[in-house]
Amino acid sequence: MAKTIIVSNRLPIKIQKVNNELVYQTSEGGLATGLGSIYKEGENVWIGWPGLYVENKSTKEQIVDELKGNNMRPVFLTEDEIKDYYEGFSNETLWPTFHYFNNYAIHEENLWEAYVNVNQKFCKEIIKVAEPGDTIWIHDYQLLILPQLVRFKLPQSSIGFFLHIPFPSYEVFRLLPWRKELLNGMLGADLLGFHTYDDMRHFLSSVSRLVSLSHTNGQVDVSNRKVLVDAFPMGIDYDKYHETAASAETLKREVRYRSSIGNSKLVLSIDRLDYSKGIPNRLKAFELFLRNNPEWRSKVSLLMVVVPSRDKVERYKELKEEIDELTGRINGQFGRLSWTPVHYFYRSFPLPALSAFYRMADVALVTPMRDGMNLVAKEYIASKLDKRGALVLSEMAGASKELLDSILINPNDLNQMVEALKTALNMPAEEQEHRIGNMQASLKKYNIHHWVKIFMERLHYIKEKQKRLSTQLLDDQIIDDISERYMNAGRRLIFADYDGTLSPHTDDPSTAGPDKELLQTLKILAKDPANRIVIISSRDKTTLQNWLGHLPIDLVAEHGVWLKEADGEFHTIDKIENRWKYEIRPILEDYVGRTPGSFLEEKDYSLVWHYRRVETGLGELRMRELTSHMKYLAPNMNLQVLDGDNIVEVKSLEVNKGKAASRWIEKFSNADFIVTFGDDWTDEDTFKAMPEHAITIKVGSAPSIAEYRIQTYKDVRKFLRTLANNGKLIKEK
Ligand code: UDP
Ligand code: G6P
Repeated sequence: MAKTIIVSNRLPIKIQKVNNELVYQTSEGGLATGLGSIYKEGENVWIGWPGLYVENKSTKEQIVDELKGNNMRPVFLTEDEIKDYYEGFSNETLWPTFHYFNNYAIHEENLWEAYVNVNQKFCKEIIKVAEPGDTIWIHDYQLLILPQLVRFKLPQSSIGFFLHIPFPSYEVFRLLPWRKELLNGMLGADLLGFHTYDDMRHFLSSVSRLVSLSHTNGQVDVSNRKVLVDAFPMGIDYDKYHETAASAETLKREVRYRSSIGNSKLVLSIDRLDYSKGIPNRLKAFELFLRNNPEWRSKVSLLMVVVPSRDKVERYKELKEEIDELTGRINGQFGRLSWTPVHYFYRSFPLPALSAFYRMADVALVTPMRDGMNLVAKEYIASKLDKRGALVLSEMAGASKELLDSILINPNDLNQMVEALKTALNMPAEEQEHRIGNMQASLKKYNIHHWVKIFMERLHYIKEKQKRLSTQLLDDQIIDDISERYMNAGRRLIFADYDGTLSPHTDDPSTAGPDKELLQTLKILAKDPANRIVIISSRDKTTLQNWLGHLPIDLVAEHGVWLKEADGEFHTIDKIENRWKYEIRPILEDYVGRTPGSFLEEKDYSLVWHYRRVETGLGELRMRELTSHMKYLAPNMNLQVLDGDNIVEVKSLEVNKGKAASRWIEKFSNADFIVTFGDDWTDEDTFKAMPEHAITIKVGSAPSIAEYRIQTYKDVRKFLRTLANNGKLIKEK
């Protein structure tokens, strides 16, 4: 049966060596606790690092065996890999950058190399277990390039990727020297999931600016695949937290803790030791609260759990010292024999203990500087069986987008945090119940099972869509077959678009025209009396004439407005109505005025607004505005609006490339070999106009109704040279 392979840097358990014995513990952190309920089902398996360095072969075998029974497969890391890939690139380069602490980030080539090598190591482990039909679900920033590595090895596989931390704005992401490699690595997946719409938006903007791939409704065309990008706010195992809060073990602990803490109100904070969590600011806010509100002294304590994390990394060590110092300062300043302002624990706790803390806490103070989601906030709400309590939550946590009934704060604003704490402590019971009730309803519905289900459904959706859109990539074998048909044909028609199909897209007049090589190929093909070559372009007739007029080939300019047979002159067949230009030109001029870098081109039967040189982003914004503006006017004026490669073209509905191509099909109805090449969506009209036996070839990765696909104009040229070479395949480097 098909299985799901979960892959993350850390397994949901971590192994420690205590007195030479292996001790298995559950891992902390949102990823491990969130997916902990999923991987145990059926044949599913979780691949990851068990969290310790193992030197001894027999110990490794022992671990492999013990984990196998629990659906886990370990990836062992060497000491150097732990230092360079885990502590280094993952936690000193990516983690700070993605959390907007880019001044903490280091950029070292050897760390990047280790990152690539360890991602390859994970890839090998996946290949060992993956079978056709399996779903591979890769998680988090430690494995950003793994999707692409797996894609190379298993091109047909179904790969999902989820990022558990924020995706930073383009301005921050672009600081990374390996930004393109990272993006291309991620784009190896079929589905890319983020916690929030903002993360997804930032990712798409980086993809557009750094690797020049645009998107439509979150769908990006990567080579010949559609990749879906979407937001999936991660939920928690609501019932587990709700039920644990009612368990006998939790209640027993609550009684015990209460007797040591006394009757003061309790403010709770639980985090891994991390500078992204805003712990020092939280302590400073609590200090300010006690200073400004003496009436609360002895009446409220902060219970602060800090779970040790990444303690080999310098920044984390420094943070630990800062927290120790601040805690000491507050307790030294305000503490009394009968009251400890901050109960500070630098350790982790088992679930029943956390659950008891959640139950007891009057307020949860969750104030990260940045956080992908923050599950602690959600767990707190789920554990409130009596709906009593209040949540103070940072706007910078992904959870703030969902938990709108919390008290939202900016963690840089100490005064606001102090006010929020006061509001939370004084919140009337009905208001607490109302707010917690609302948040519980949402968390219950959008729980972790729902999250997995929706993610898997979207992955399935995009795989199905890919299948529907799949056009076959032309390989040497197919080219051989087509060449044979070419050689056996008596009368041939060869249609080709120009820009992007025979030559690269460019608006630089010095490089836009055909080079010698292309002219030579067209000349050889045109010399064969059985061939009729037709170039169908959006270019104007003068340009086409200058570039190709001297060859014995047919030309179609401006999408079919002007037609010319090899030995004739350009002419237009129909009388095309042109008065619409008076009305449309001022509108386009207005867009030129508002958009520096854009310009208007007037063709005989169309008007074209160009935005290739406009600031990235602004051009696309104006393009969307203009097309929707035009699409509203166009139908009444018998016009069509074409949004092409950095252009918006408005022209009469009576003209399109397909109509032009049909004239040749009719005239040369005895052609027994027809082939058509095109890269632009306007070439889809040509494909549609082709008879059944024609061979249609799309250039590039955009969706198409063509039968075959070819990567770039270079491959088109190589193919044409093969035909010109009497169908003998040209082997090139
Ligand atoms: N956690 C834990 N033991 C502890 C403290 C916390 O297992 O002693 C868990 C907590 O229940 C939560 C996770 O660690 O599920 C922390 O996830 P969160 O999303 O809040 O932050 P992250 O650590 O992923 O940045
Ligand atoms: C966050 C990350 C996880 C990571 C966890 C614990 O939740 O998103 O990928 O596993 O922190 O960090 P650690 O470095 O101990 O794995």
